Amino acid sequence: MSKLLVLETPTQESIKVRAITYQNYATPFALKTLYIPIANKESIVTPTEVLVKVMTTSVNPVDCILKNFSNNYFGPKFKIPGGDFAGIVVKAGSESGYKEGDKIYGDCLSLNKRGSFSDSIIFEPKKAFVCEKIPDGMPFEEAGSLACVSNTAFESLRKYNGNLYGKNVLVLGAGTSVGFFTVQFAKYYFNAKNVVATCSSKSSFKTTKAGADLTIDYTKSEVSKLEALLEFVKIHGFFDIIVDCVRDESVISNFPNLLQKGKDGGIFTQITGSYTLDYKNIHLYNMIPSWRYLYNKWKYQLGFSDYPIVATWTERDEEYGAAIEKLWKENKLDIVIDSSYNAYKDFNEAFEKVATCTAKGKVILNWNNPE
Ligand SMILES: NC(=O)c1ccc[n+]([C@@H]2O[C@H](COP(=O)([O-])OP(=O)(O)OC[C@H]3O[C@@H](n4cnc5c(N)ncnc54)[C@H](OP(=O)(O)O)[C@@H]3O)[C@@H](O)[C@H]2O)c1
Repeated sequence: MSKLLVLETPTQESIKVRAITYQNYATPFALKTLYIPIANKESIVTPTEVLVKVMTTSVNPVDCILKNFSNNYFGPKFKIPGGDFAGIVVKAGSESGYKEGDKIYGDCLSLNKRGSFSDSIIFEPKKAFVCEKIPDGMPFEEAGSLACVSNTAFESLRKYNGNLYGKNVLVLGAGTSVGFFTVQFAKYYFNAKNVVATCSSKSSFKTTKAGADLTIDYTKSEVSKLEALLEFVKIHGFFDIIVDCVRDESVISNFPNLLQKGKDGGIFTQITGSYTLDYKNIHLYNMIPSWRYLYNKWKYQLGFSDYPIVATWTERDEEYGAAIEKLWKENKLDIVIDSSYNAYKDFNEAFEKVATCTAKGKVILNWNNPE
């Protein structure tokens, strides 16, 4: 039997879990008892797997997007959403890299198959997007909220080909969780000289606290945003990297006034995501890169533009876990939790908050509550 499946009835070689599930885009989320196939009754896991008692998970836009696009033809009948988790290793395979009792966090998103939103998970750490030991003293709530957004933030800055020390970084959409971590990594890990961030006035305080030297309110007008950016460049020089977390492509036509040329290291990177942040009403075409993005990307590739454009997403990265640990130990990692919900009862509220893009930080599902 495929290890990717979840079962509705127990078998000799399965464990029982309580999980948040859905069947397709039209069915509501529901808490269900399901059964996960195991390697065998003695070891439970294969040498490369771990069984984890989940303490917290967090909801990401991708969880809402995958549900919107799901149908009855791909994946198991009852799909378990989720990627982000934090928990305790209960069984560890000999080649998994972990031992029983380890506290770990990560992103084990499995497209349309079996995600992290259940009280126990079995997965292969070496194949997960992210799997790391929780830094000493970090609460489960914070650890469970980290992987997807902070890893994507880290990867966005890793797209810069060189050392960001002393450079200028622009983060478009710093009010998003990805943008918030991008600001922190840029300032405190990569030691950029100036970090400029666009966000609403509501997110300005937390963004400044996270290390932004200048925040620009994108809600005022395109013109005032551009004027503020040009004013910055006049005083401090071009941006070396622009990280776009919200598909704010208005800057593309102004690259010559804002961005260092590619030959001098300049780069524009866009977080792969949707055009609309209304994840309840998302369509496939919202996910397709814009014509402006593609045209300018190809123009550079064909040698007709000076400004490289690349996409960023969550990726395995050996340096990421150490970067998180370093910032945490230095007391420079700010993790903003918007809200924490009982995973067994209040999951609909949690999804609603993320789907409507109204969260001001991470939305947590707590699995350590009584049902
Ligand atoms: N491909 C990947 O691997 C990957 C991984 C993670 C995330 N993503 C994508 O990255 C994007 C951000 O995800 P997230 O979880 O970080 O988002 P999030 O935390 O849910 O973002 C919410 C925030 O977005 C800001 N916002 C809303 N509309 C905006 C607009 N028009 N312009 C600028 N900011 C706006 C708001 O802050 P203000 O107060 O500033 O308005 C709001 O608080 C999503 O599209 C997601 O799908 C992709």
